[in-house]
Amino acid sequence: MKTHKLLMPLDMHLHLRDGVMLENVAPLSAYSFSGGLIMPNLVPPIQTLEDVKAYKERIMATIPNDYFEPYMTLFYKNYDKAFLAMAAPHIMAIKLYPAGITTNSEGGVSSFKLDEMRETLEAMSILEIPLCVHGESDGFVMDREAEFMSVYELLAKNFPKLKIIMEHITTKEAVAMLEKYENLYATITVHHLYLTLDDVVGGMMMPHNFCKPIAKRPQDREALLRVALDAHPKVMFGSDSAPHPKDKKESSGCAAGVFSAPIALQLLCEIFDKHNKLDNLQAFVSDNAQSIYKICPEFKEVTLEKRAFEVPQSYANVIPMYAGKTIEWAIQSVE
Ligand code: NCD
Ligand code: ZN
Repeated sequence: MKTHKLLMPLDMHLHLRDGVMLENVAPLSAYSFSGGLIMPNLVPPIQTLEDVKAYKERIMATIPNDYFEPYMTLFYKNYDKAFLAMAAPHIMAIKLYPAGITTNSEGGVSSFKLDEMRETLEAMSILEIPLCVHGESDGFVMDREAEFMSVYELLAKNFPKLKIIMEHITTKEAVAMLEKYENLYATITVHHLYLTLDDVVGGMMMPHNFCKPIAKRPQDREALLRVALDAHPKVMFGSDSAPHPKDKKESSGCAAGVFSAPIALQLLCEIFDKHNKLDNLQAFVSDNAQSIYKICPEFKEVTLEKRAFEVPQSYANVIPMYAGKTIEWAIQSVE
């Protein structure tokens, strides 16, 4: 049987939520990943050091038997220098959301005024705290990411020492930006390597494929595949696995978010294998993130095998991407 080993897989964009949902989903990521960048969009968002430390403890309490490092983040606001110096040892990055653009982002940034942001972004540059950005404008839904490129340019030009991560990119425009500014990096999800808008609303409406940013055109997916399959050194895997209870997804106002964490490595193996690029998967799913974030996770080895695997219909009250579908790779063991 064909197998493939991955060392220290990392998920550099992960929503673990809180409470019962956290207890349900955190062990699933901790099983197959060495660590993950934990998103701060709780209600209310994570904006104090006490919140960071307490949330980290709640995460750790759900995974007593697995090694998993939650790399913590703060929800962006215009923090002052003194606070950031104190916070730096406890966080891996700060996540910026434009106000109201996605789930639990109401407290985000409502306009990008450099003078107001300067103290924070300069301190982050000096302290080497990366800025992770949900890059969407408030325009027409299919154009939101492309329209946001001007904001990335503004930030990248004005803060050349700030590491800026374009989160969950979905367009060829974002891929092109990687070459334009040295300090721009990106995460790519597994669902955006598989889905286009057709898989969301092309036939019957598929709420479990609905997320922000929405899946785009085939040529956008091609551009993402090109840099992911080649493990472009400025690109890393971030699942953006975003669980919502079934009744919030199968509803007249469907919440945005695809739950992919428990099948992410299997689907990555499948698509890298299909394109004869399995040798590049290690860099995409761990090594690039290790060098971009300067992290050194503890040893974990995941062996995957090429055999039919039926994706579970649900994980407690959360429906995963491709529920009930047979995929081509499965996890054989984790050491
Ligand atoms: C995320 C969530 O549910 O928290 N939803 C999503 O569609 N991706 C938020 C986000 O990352 O945009
Ligand atoms: Zn997200």
